Amino acid sequence: MRKAYVIALDQGTTSSRAMLVDADGRVVDAVQNPFPQRYPQPGWVEHDPLDILSSQLGALAELTVSHGLGPADIDAIGITNQRETTVVWNRETGRPVGNAIVWQCRRTAPIVEELCGDPAVARRIADTTGLVPDAYFSASKVKWLLDNIPGARADAEAGKLAFGTVDSWLVWSLTDGQVHATDVTNASRTMLYDIHEMRWDPWLLDLFGIPASMLPDVCPSSADYGVTANPGVVRGVPIRGVAGDQQAALFGQCCFEAGQAKNTYGTGCFLLMHTGREACRSTHRLVTTLAASAPGAPGPEYALEGSVFMAGALLQWLRDELGLIDDVAETCAIARSVPDTGGVYVVPAFTGLGAPYWDAEARGAIYGLTRGAGRAHIVRAALESLAYQVHDLAVAMEADAGMPLKVLKVDGGASANDFLMQFQSDLLRTPLHRPQNTETTALGAAYLAGLGTGFWKDTARLCDLRSSDTVYAPGMEDARHARLLEGWARAVRRTMAP
Ligand code: G3P
Repeated sequence: MRKAYVIALDQGTTSSRAMLVDADGRVVDAVQNPFPQRYPQPGWVEHDPLDILSSQLGALAELTVSHGLGPADIDAIGITNQRETTVVWNRETGRPVGNAIVWQCRRTAPIVEELCGDPAVARRIADTTGLVPDAYFSASKVKWLLDNIPGARADAEAGKLAFGTVDSWLVWSLTDGQVHATDVTNASRTMLYDIHEMRWDPWLLDLFGIPASMLPDVCPSSADYGVTANPGVVRGVPIRGVAGDQQAALFGQCCFEAGQAKNTYGTGCFLLMHTGREACRSTHRLVTTLAASAPGAPGPEYALEGSVFMAGALLQWLRDELGLIDDVAETCAIARSVPDTGGVYVVPAFTGLGAPYWDAEARGAIYGLTRGAGRAHIVRAALESLAYQVHDLAVAMEADAGMPLKVLKVDGGASANDFLMQFQSDLLRTPLHRPQNTETTALGAAYLAGLGTGFWKDTARLCDLRSSDTVYAPGMEDARHARLLEGWARAVRRTMAP
């Protein structure tokens, strides 16, 4: 008899979630467990891998127990995860050698500068991995752990240690140490994987001093990752899908073809455009990354990715630091209470400006204040700044991909903000589609797992499951469009270091 559900595990930066998805693609229930963030020094961010695990297994157990589910009810599990975050553990004891170094952690910036500062090295890394060398990716984090945890390098060289991004750590733990694997999307964020040859790159392993014996096997995103055997959770369920969260969201938004794109409005924004079988090389310092593929895909599929550092975080700042709002949800009505920002622009360069500007020294600013400017203008300008930043990324992406953005699919918390979505569509001059179910990351993981088992027949079926989207059509007149973008460009120029 056909099983009723697929379960998606979404291990994010601040919480672990488990979601029950039925054959109609509905999220029937979800359990979310936050877990501790650790900041041992300024600029450092760590997670205890055991916290990640207990919060994730706890969410899974609570979900299955509360619905009385066993292996007979669950077709498969799909895993999606915060990417780049690096875990190293001992294969014999199963114990992590130390805390995971989180993607946001900047401690390894000097390592990257030392090893990748030579332009020829940086170029070779970009050619091989599609990435701009940075401490964000896993390579320098693994090196740091091996160099700084007593005995770790010797153990790694003796074949005793395993490295993995969070997906690998979960697969290994869920299968009780039977499977040490990752998927292509996560591998493509390590800065150790050749995204053209589809293999770990020996030159990069050598550059970062990482023994090949530590590395997980790399599998397609929809593949056999073993069965659950951990005593803490439902046992005997196949794990059939794995993808990094942004690529999972691209898949969950049904962006299966070149030119289809999604933007997630979270703490920051992640804009990804599917570029088909082609790995587009960016001239705007966007990154090229592997996309998740449906089973049976003839070869690797690629995406361009760009990110905005401050999105939802800017709205939280309005609430928590400036006290201008009580609740982020108010911003829509506040923005609409004035006809425009009265010439006010917020440039949220709190941690520098990312693509396409890349000015690490830039800092946030509010411009154009006059005696007439008030709270509503500043709140509206803050919201608009999210849309301007996404606009700038999209323009860079269109130029790199050599194809226009025909539609932008949106998700994440701030995609619920109608004012922002309309303004975004107006700026991009592109329709925006927001699905009924904005849990696209979890859906992507569920889809990858369920396609592998036949729970869903094919991607066409997944597109059919998508009930009618809310569509925002562009409507701003040309003169206003040009004037607003000019004002934004001027504000950004003033913010950048001379
Ligand atoms: O690259 C980092 C990204 O995967 C983190 O996503 O949603 O956990 O903040 P999130």
